[in-house]
Amino acid sequence: MKITIFGTGYVGLVTGACLAEVGHNVLCADVDESKIERLKQGIIPIFEPGLETIVRDNFNQGRLNFTTNAREAVEFGDVQFIAVGTPPDEDGSADLQYVRAVARSIGEAMTSTKIVVNKSTVPVGTGDKVQAEISTALAERGLSIEFDVVSNPEFLKEGAAVNDFMKPDRIIIGTTNPASEKRMRELYAPFNRNHDRMIVMDLRSAELTKYAANAMLATKISFMNELANLAERLGADIEQVRIGIGSDPRIGYHFIYPGCGYGGSCFPKDVQALHRTARDVGYNAKLLAAVESVNDRQKVKLFDLIVRHYGGQDALAGKTFALWGLAFKPNTDDMRAAPSREVMAALWGAGAKVQAFDPEAMEETQRIYGQRDDLLLCGTRDSALKGADALIVCTEWKAFRAPDFALMASALKEKLIFDGRNVYDPNRLAEDNWLYYGIGRGLSI
Ligand code: UGA
Repeated sequence: MKITIFGTGYVGLVTGACLAEVGHNVLCADVDESKIERLKQGIIPIFEPGLETIVRDNFNQGRLNFTTNAREAVEFGDVQFIAVGTPPDEDGSADLQYVRAVARSIGEAMTSTKIVVNKSTVPVGTGDKVQAEISTALAERGLSIEFDVVSNPEFLKEGAAVNDFMKPDRIIIGTTNPASEKRMRELYAPFNRNHDRMIVMDLRSAELTKYAANAMLATKISFMNELANLAERLGADIEQVRIGIGSDPRIGYHFIYPGCGYGGSCFPKDVQALHRTARDVGYNAKLLAAVESVNDRQKVKLFDLIVRHYGGQDALAGKTFALWGLAFKPNTDDMRAAPSREVMAALWGAGAKVQAFDPEAMEETQRIYGQRDDLLLCGTRDSALKGADALIVCTEWKAFRAPDFALMASALKEKLIFDGRNVYDPNRLAEDNWLYYGIGRGLSI
């Protein structure tokens, strides 16, 4: 099948590369010329395991191509995917200008029947807006060409994006048009083997399914963080509680890890946007508001523990902290809404310095913060410790799980750890006279 993808961000690039990988002919379009040039040379703009290889292979085999020419892109695919960004507006709602612009270009250039598939995370009702935008552009050209708008939200996780796309839990298709359903079944047939993973529903329900999934996952995390803060005050260990409740299959072990807050480009944005959508239709979504505010508080949790340890903010001036993990989660270089950023900003505000290390996000950190006296970017995990007053862990990269504690003890001024992801065993550290603060681990405080 001939497929066009608008937008070469995480979702667009992974979708394009994976569809080409199973044999479709794919053209990816983006307005960013330098990005498209680099993609043609096999240079991908993000760190995502396995992606670079399939982009290169499929480009070399001629099944995956790139363009900045919207007209060419519209002409190419019988199926047109919209996978452009929907960043939050100032009021928290999703900004649809890029989605609308693509819809307009499709309407302005199409000369044959198309299926337009919305893969961007968009508020309920956007499908209708895309439909209207294309119809208007066609009417302006005095044409009436058949097309259908389908919703097909994406559920991939950064760091596991290729695998998630190749082996999806589910493929949600929002359409009530049997011809479009048939076409989407053909397109996804290579990913839909062994048992049927395709769930077909009306367009609005498909749009809401995406927000519902992210909001549910964010709710699980905020719930656990709330409980963690309670456990800390009650002298209980949230990690024991986590294992205890996860054993109930109705609750499950996934996404109940307490920590220094959820980040990334999706959860914060989507919870906010859904809350805003609720308000727009006159509903006060109290739970969503709480999920958001619990997370905001959790992102400064590590700083609060640090302040508590030193007996006040004033005591932080002139101190230096080693910080491990800058990305919002392991296996990505993405620092959007990363808890590490809140921790660093608070430490800097109190006059402290940071010596930071992340296995993948060093370039991104440099890009965001540039040169500053209170941030030292370190080339290795262990060099970040040198002469620091304490260690802070913000992201649970594998390489942080089994550090050399003896070396750590000699590099740090004090045997002191603030662990935002509960990576370490407090009892084991206590035996070795470390002072350890985790999240919701009342027993160790
Ligand atoms: C999330 C969803 O998991 C994907 O299904 C969805 O497709 C994607 O958003 C999207 O909408 O595009 P992602 O943002 O890549 O994926 O990251 P997650 O793995 O979900 O992690 C989000 C945040 O939650 C991270 O900061 C992580 O550290 C935190 N988290 C996760 C916890 O604090 N506790 C947990 O138990 C799990």
